[in-house]
Amino acid sequence: MITKKIDIAIESLNNGNLVAIPTETVYGLSGNAFDEKVIEKIFTLKERPLNNPLIVHIKSYDYLEKIAKDVPDIAMKLAKNFWPGPLTLVLNKKHLVPDIVTAGKETVAIRVPSHPLTLEILEKLDFPLAAPSANPFSTISPTTAEHVDHYFGNDLEVILDGGVCEKGIESTIIGFEGEYPIVYRLGSLSIEEIENKIGKVYTKNKNDVSPVAPGMLSRHYAPRTEMVLVDEPKSKLKYFPNKKVGVLSFKNTIKSLQEEDQEILSREGNLNEAGKKLYAAMHRLDSKDFDIILAERLPNVGIGKTINDKLERATKKEDKLESEIELFKDLEKDIIINSVFPGIIP
Ligand code: TXA
Ligand code: MG
Repeated sequence: MITKKIDIAIESLNNGNLVAIPTETVYGLSGNAFDEKVIEKIFTLKERPLNNPLIVHIKSYDYLEKIAKDVPDIAMKLAKNFWPGPLTLVLNKKHLVPDIVTAGKETVAIRVPSHPLTLEILEKLDFPLAAPSANPFSTISPTTAEHVDHYFGNDLEVILDGGVCEKGIESTIIGFEGEYPIVYRLGSLSIEEIENKIGKVYTKNKNDVSPVAPGMLSRHYAPRTEMVLVDEPKSKLKYFPNKKVGVLSFKNTIKSLQEEDQEILSREGNLNEAGKKLYAAMHRLDSKDFDIILAERLPNVGIGKTINDKLERATKKEDKLESEIELFKDLEKDIIINSVFPGIIP
């Protein structure tokens, strides 16, 4: 059931159920972080591997030391500056946090979300909320209550509707190696904003055989439809004359293409607006049975960097496309279309 009533959500959480909650980043699939049985339900419903730890959502900065220890000064500074907000800190955990939440790690990921409904819920509960994004493992994250309903409507008693998520992209995750802050996942708090407060930070966001944060997995946030990331979608249309092509653009409509086949992230070229609309646009394009979606790479600054990172994980790379084109450039045109792309167009 989709509801705006927080009392219903609180009662359900107190009864040991999962509740979808709005945050400023994306919707979360939440439950009592101190109850192992509840946490098991989260992993099962999300079909998430048990080695992929969850974020614990707390009500305020003051609660931090109830569940984390040896907190570096720089983490305190980050928390003071950016909480409530889209920053997750990975810190040494206290015993109170069950191992299943942290996938057996000695660290726990923590944040104070800034959505008023969820903050009010956290105020009224006796426990913090463990919550991954409210989508099946490696699909597009939900930024509206309807997205969650589409994924889990039959399994959840309560989906709390807090409107469209303000930021629209997951939190930025920072861990510490000694005293040094390391960005493990690019998110809706930009590197520039972080560096303005604490100086240079290192990023280890790239793919890894054994990723520190599985948000680092190379294919993630992915639509079902094949998506290709390109600098200029318009100039790539010619390669798909007989295909149904959808386009995800930063700010401009392509005149030669039907308007309903295009999603524009921000007509004014505002990167924050683009971030807010990104996942909803991907959800819509993915529901339309295109053969392929061409996504435009955004300017690589601020949240643009984060958006490009999410798009890269959701797409095939343009260089792959072009190398394949290069390889077959001497062949007949329709052979190119039919035989070069079978890996791209199923
Ligand atoms: O914005 C967000 O962060 C949203 C909202 C609901 O708060 N949550 C979210 O959760 O994106 P999830 O589970 O989809 O992503 C959490 C990421 C995963 O990549 C996980 O591996 C990483 O956080 N993580 C959790 N605990 C960690 C730990 N102890 N060390 C390293 N990475 C950790
Ligand atoms: Mg997620």
